[in-house]
Amino acid sequence: MLQRIAHLEEEMLKRLSAVTSLESLDRWRIEVLGKKSELVKIQRSIGQLPREDRPRVGDRSNRARVTLEKAFEKRKGELEKRRIDPILRERLDVTLPGWPVRLGRLHPSTQVLREIQSIYSEMGFQVFDGPEIETDTYNFELLNMPENHPARDMWDTLYISKTLLLRTHTSPGQIRAMRAFCPEPIRVILPGKCYRYEAITARSEVMFHQVEGLAVGRGITMADLKGVLIEFCKKMFGLERKVRFRCSHFPFTEPSVEVDIDCLVCEGSGCSVCKNTGWVEILGAGMVHPKVLENGGYDPETFSGFAFGMGPERIFMLKHGIDDIRLFFRNDLRFLWQFG
Ligand code: FA5
Repeated sequence: MLQRIAHLEEEMLKRLSAVTSLESLDRWRIEVLGKKSELVKIQRSIGQLPREDRPRVGDRSNRARVTLEKAFEKRKGELEKRRIDPILRERLDVTLPGWPVRLGRLHPSTQVLREIQSIYSEMGFQVFDGPEIETDTYNFELLNMPENHPARDMWDTLYISKTLLLRTHTSPGQIRAMRAFCPEPIRVILPGKCYRYEAITARSEVMFHQVEGLAVGRGITMADLKGVLIEFCKKMFGLERKVRFRCSHFPFTEPSVEVDIDCLVCEGSGCSVCKNTGWVEILGAGMVHPKVLENGGYDPETFSGFAFGMGPERIFMLKHGIDDIRLFFRNDLRFLWQFG
């Protein structure tokens, strides 16, 4: 039996060296190592041998199987290499220049957020973070909008529970910053995502960014607010831009304004972007309402402050002549690759 195994092993190895294609190699594998192979038949018959012969025959047949399997793998590797090499030689011209590696870019929202942050940090503002999931108290109540106040309708709100919501603006961060800094003076900006349950249009998304600004101290006046915002507009949009302050209303600022710049697209002569007015609104602002100062821990008799809130996506759209805000979050690389 041992001789039979040795002979079988020798014979099969000889035949393997004559195999020249992967197809015939597969046939060899089935014949030599498959369920119906000679070797398997031998292994199955071991049980009928005299007891004392069984270990030796079992051991020899196992070794034969291992040898044949190893030889099979080696031959397979050789044949695969033989098949691939000519393909590579034919197709791969190593002298051709490689494909340029595409580097990732910052998302347009991130780019404009960084630009805004850099302008305000030059004016001494530091960044302060607030949570995206807010309480009704911070988002409305402490901003001078108690329950059932009609001004709450200005913000279509996504509620998570009776008391929790996705913040509709970055203004709740005003209270958080005041409570963190009180009684020190404050100069912060609060960038972040906001959410509104609004119809998505070319100008409005359900998720967008805002950058809030807040300064609190002794003797801060509307002139300071105007100075900071005019400086921002000149740095962001260029020295030649005209800036206009328009009376407005927000429950948490008094007086309140909205700021427009003359339309970059038509240079003020009237077009669809500025709805033929020649002006485009970029932010809301005002002097912090005494009640809000109080809610933040400051005495409105001693302290005053200004606040503003702007939409970075709208600013980016104006600067680059983009007419649809939905492009920002559609993940279309043809749009995103154009910037940065
Ligand atoms: C506010 O949210 C106020 N909290 C701003 C403020 C802060 C006023 C501090 C006074 C003091 P408003 O709803 O107008 O205001 O939004 C401010 C800016 O956010 C808008 O000018 C616009 O640029 C941007 N914005 C508002 N809604 C959307 C939207 N759905 N999609 C994209 N941008 C939006």
